[in-house]
Amino acid sequence: MKLAILSAAPRCYSTRRLRQAAEERGHDVKVLNTLRFGIDLEEGTPNLVYRSKQLSEYDAILPRIGASVTYFGTAVVRQFEQMDVYTPNTANGITNSRDKLRSLQILSRHDIGIPHTTFVRDRKDVLPAIERIGGAPVIIKILEGTQGVGVILADNTKIAEAIIETLQTAKQNVLIQQFVKESRGRDIRAFVVGDRVVAAMRRTAQGDEFRSNVHRGGSADLVELSPEYEETAVRAAQIMGLRMAGVDMLEGKDGPRIMEVNSSPGLEGIEGATGLDVAGAVVDFIANQVNFPEIDLRQRLTVTRGYGVTDLIIPEGSEMVGKTIAESGLRDRDIAILNLHRGTKVISNPRHSRVIEAGDGLLCYGRLESMRDLVPEKRRRKNRVKIKKLDPKLIEGLEND
Ligand SMILES: Nc1ncnc2c1ncn2[C@@H]1O[C@H](COP(=O)(O)OP(=O)(O)OP(=O)(O)O)[C@@H](O)[C@H]1O
Ligand SMILES: [Mg+2]
Repeated sequence: MKLAILSAAPRCYSTRRLRQAAEERGHDVKVLNTLRFGIDLEEGTPNLVYRSKQLSEYDAILPRIGASVTYFGTAVVRQFEQMDVYTPNTANGITNSRDKLRSLQILSRHDIGIPHTTFVRDRKDVLPAIERIGGAPVIIKILEGTQGVGVILADNTKIAEAIIETLQTAKQNVLIQQFVKESRGRDIRAFVVGDRVVAAMRRTAQGDEFRSNVHRGGSADLVELSPEYEETAVRAAQIMGLRMAGVDMLEGKDGPRIMEVNSSPGLEGIEGATGLDVAGAVVDFIANQVNFPEIDLRQRLTVTRGYGVTDLIIPEGSEMVGKTIAESGLRDRDIAILNLHRGTKVISNPRHSRVIEAGDGLLCYGRLESMRDLVPEKRRRKNRVKIKKLDPKLIEGLEND
């Protein structure tokens, strides 16, 4: 394949390793400086120029977009997407994961562990916010912080309030977060590629420091993840829309708590700690997926006027319960079922002979008018279909019943 690594730091360890892994595998690889693209927009022909010259054709890109160039960098990635060039991480995925608040907001609607977190603006709301997350000790985080800078542990409520006020006066957005004390001085970094964790390490802080960042003197060691941690990391990446991600988790007493999902995870720390060929895993995955560029389904499926996608949840007592999909009458109403969620199972392309049960979630494509009658007036919280555990053993393809 012809691969472009988008990076503003061609000489850094991660970029060098990725290029080397691609070369070793016989791919044609170039490192292109993200900041030297020009995005040309004209009717019907999304185009890119590089160093002011027409860009040649690529099969795939591997974006390594730093936090300081998010806006321009994601615009370049989005343009590649318009040109149907494969990218493991889409512009949307990168944007979703870029700040700690946004990623926790997106994760919070799923059954996935996160530390209880709150975000308020008015002084009057600070004290009640601290109380809502269980009182001191609490973690206070500046939204834009990295490498442990701007992460503070406040032992009591008075101090917490004072710190938050000071930071807000300095025009900083701050998150107030439950201190996961069982995990004090420890966290896990799982490197997710596609639907598996290819390497994981535990970072341990030095002395009585509570932050385990390597930049704060922490050490990193290979760790064998339990299936629970592995699955949580993979799901977090999937929910964010990332096929390559560094997922940071605290080890809470009730299991993993996601702190953050990074879209350009570094390779040096993890390859150093684990001795594994992470760069090779990334390149192999891209080579494998290159013919399946991301499709914005909603955009593609709603081009016909009056058609759209929706989740239908079959309520108890629905006339469809106990009927097969063929008998349900959905097809006659011009509605097709793309997949069916049942408990923790996802059944893709369900057969017409499949019997519908109460509580099933049907991802449907069809005529909006027909689907409108089937969607309850106001969706209630408990009716939402969540992205359930995606245990490969539970994902059925062609049904053989
Ligand atoms: N809620 C928490 N409970 C316990 N420890 C925490 C919590 N949040 C953060 N920590 C500790 O502080 C460290 C730094 O926090 P975090 O990763 O959120 O910020 P950062 O490292 O500055 O940001 P980035 O990971 O984007 O560089 C974590 O690695 C962890 O050891
Ligand atoms: Mg961190």
